[in-house]
Formats: sequence, structure tokens, C-alpha cells
Amino acid sequence: MNILVTGFAGYIGSVVCELLIEQGHNIIGLDNFSNGHQKAIIPGTVTYDTHVNDTDQLDSIFSKHEPEAVIHLAAKSLVGESVTNPFTYYEANVVESLSLLQKMTEYGVKKIVFSSSASVYGEPEKTPITEEQDSNPVNPYGETKRVFEEILKWYQQAHGLRYIALRYFNAAGATSQFGEHHTPETHLIPIILDVALKQDGPMRIFGSDYETPDGTCIRDYVHVIDIANAHIGALRFLDNIPGGTYNIGNGIGFSNKEIYETAKQITGRDIPLEITARRDGDPAILVASNDKARAELSWIAEHSELAEIIQSAWDWKQKFPHGYE
Ligand code: UFG
Repeated sequence: MNILVTGFAGYIGSVVCELLIEQGHNIIGLDNFSNGHQKAIIPGTVTYDTHVNDTDQLDSIFSKHEPEAVIHLAAKSLVGESVTNPFTYYEANVVESLSLLQKMTEYGVKKIVFSSSASVYGEPEKTPITEEQDSNPVNPYGETKRVFEEILKWYQQAHGLRYIALRYFNAAGATSQFGEHHTPETHLIPIILDVALKQDGPMRIFGSDYETPDGTCIRDYVHVIDIANAHIGALRFLDNIPGGTYNIGNGIGFSNKEIYETAKQITGRDIPLEITARRDGDPAILVASNDKARAELSWIAEHSELAEIIQSAWDWKQKFPHGYE
């Protein structure tokens, strides 16, 4: 199948492309390289260095390659930055993404898998979080993802679009080729592993006064390979189901301290630690119910062990100490 993948050179995009190619699909990759990496391009992939709202470029891509489906991963995704600069989040995640959707409609492309996020829930009412729970984002990032999910729903009604929005929990881990590299890095696991590698700590845990057993936040870490597989499965299921939103998480939560301790064991390194104040916008606990994805998309996490997830990230970090730089 010809598949247009936006944000294809980012963390999740690179792994999605790796698996799509293994399964014999043709990728048309689109990225503006604001977060993506040239070194994450798989040789032989057809790629475009462009924004998702470059309508001339999209015209040429849609008419030349005739994609059957779109996997839309291009987005701005830093929670803290979204709080200080909401404009760029609405611009990229809503306005520009809408241009892409409109072009899909114009060219009769009916299938889209959209990269949504657990951040749509905000402070959840109950744990594990089911898709039926209210969406009350506590930051603009989550809000933009929620808005775009709504847009997809209305395009489904108006234009017969088939969509699946995957609400990822905390993406983590790596393949042997592709891993996590953000500038600046704000995510817990790569930061801990960086300190372990460079021995230039301390790493900081933000807050130990949450209402959790050890006082630190709890998150549901899901292997990037399992996330990538969810996209590929979703594409298959779009022939049978009209669409909807699905949590992609393991259903198991680990506290920041547990992540730190596991990383210490795996790396065998000393990792200096400091406990600091809470970070704004962090819910105490985010753990998914993945019942819906299992039942309706037959999605199963094949790499759900925390040690395996962190080990894969550590292997990648040692192989590429400077990431893609
Ligand atoms: N944390 C630290 N120290 C750090 C970095 C993070 O203590 O140096 C803590 C955070 O405060 C939080 C936990 O580690 O408690 C996880 O933080 P991340 O930044 O790694 O991830 P988030 O949970 O904030 O966000 C991620 C994605 C979002 C997604 C969310 C869903 O970045 O896009 O998971 O759970 F919405």
C-alpha cells in the first residue's frame, strides 16, 4: 500500500517506517525536520522536506504518489512549551493539520491514523483510564490533540473519512536503528540514561509529594515498537471499522523512582539524583486501560516488560551517544 507518513523522521515516525517497510509497504515520508532527523531516514524512502500545510507540495504528492492512507504523526509535542507558547501548538497541531485533512478530502483519500495522546485526559477521574472518560486537557498540547480528534469525527460524518486516533501513553525504548532524540530532551528515560552515560548528573525527579505510594508520578511506558505496530494494525482495521479513539498503553504504571531504580540496575552505573519541586501540568497518575485496543484492533503489546523497554533505550544510547547528531 502507498502510505503518506507525516513526521516520518521523528522518534515514532522512524520506527513506524521501519516496520512498514519490513511489511512491504511504500512510504511517502513528509517532515519539516523541526523535530525530525535526516539520519533517521531509511535509505530508499521517498521523502519530502515540507510542512503539512504546503498545499502546492501536497497537490504534487497526492497526484504523483496516490497514497491510499495517511499516518499523521507530524506535531509539536512538548507539554511545557505548549503552556508558554500555545499559538505554535494550535498552528501546527490544528491549523496546519487541517490543511492536510482538506487535501485528503480533495483527493479522495479516506483513511487516516492520527497520533493523539494520553494528555487529552488531563487529571483522570479513574485509573486505569478508559476512552469513555471525559477529556479535560490541562495543557494546550493535550487540547490541540483533543480538538483534532473532534475534527476527525466531523470529517467522518461530512466526508466518510475513516480514522483511528491512537492515544499514546509514554512512548519509550528503541529499535537497534532508531531511538529517542529530542532537542531539548525533556523525557524521563532518555534523561536518566544520558546522566548514566555521561556521568554528569544529577538527574532530577520533579516532585515526591504526589498521592502515589512513593510520592513520585506514575506513568504507563509503552515500547515504541508496540506503538508503531498499533498504527499498522489500525490501518488494517480501517477497512472494517469506521473509526474511533484507542488508548495505546500497557496498563501498568511505574513511578519515577521505580524508573530511576530500574535504569540504575540496567546500566550498572551510578546515577546521581536530586528531588526537586513538581513540574507544572504533570498529572499524578496516567495509566491506560487498553481493553478497547485489544478487543477492537487486536493490539497486543509484545514488549511490555519495563526492563526490556529501558534496556533497548540503553543499547541505543550506547550505540549512538549523541543520538542523531
Ligand atoms: N520527569 C522527571 N524528571 C525529568 C523529566 C521528567 O521527574 O527530568 C518526570 C515528569 O515530571 C513526569 C514523568 O517523569 O512525572 C514523565 O515525564 P515525561 O516528560 O517523560 O513524559 P510526560 O508524562 O510528561 O509526557 C509524555 C509525552 C506526552 C504524553 C504523555 C502521556 O511527552 O506527549 O507522556 O502520558 F501526552
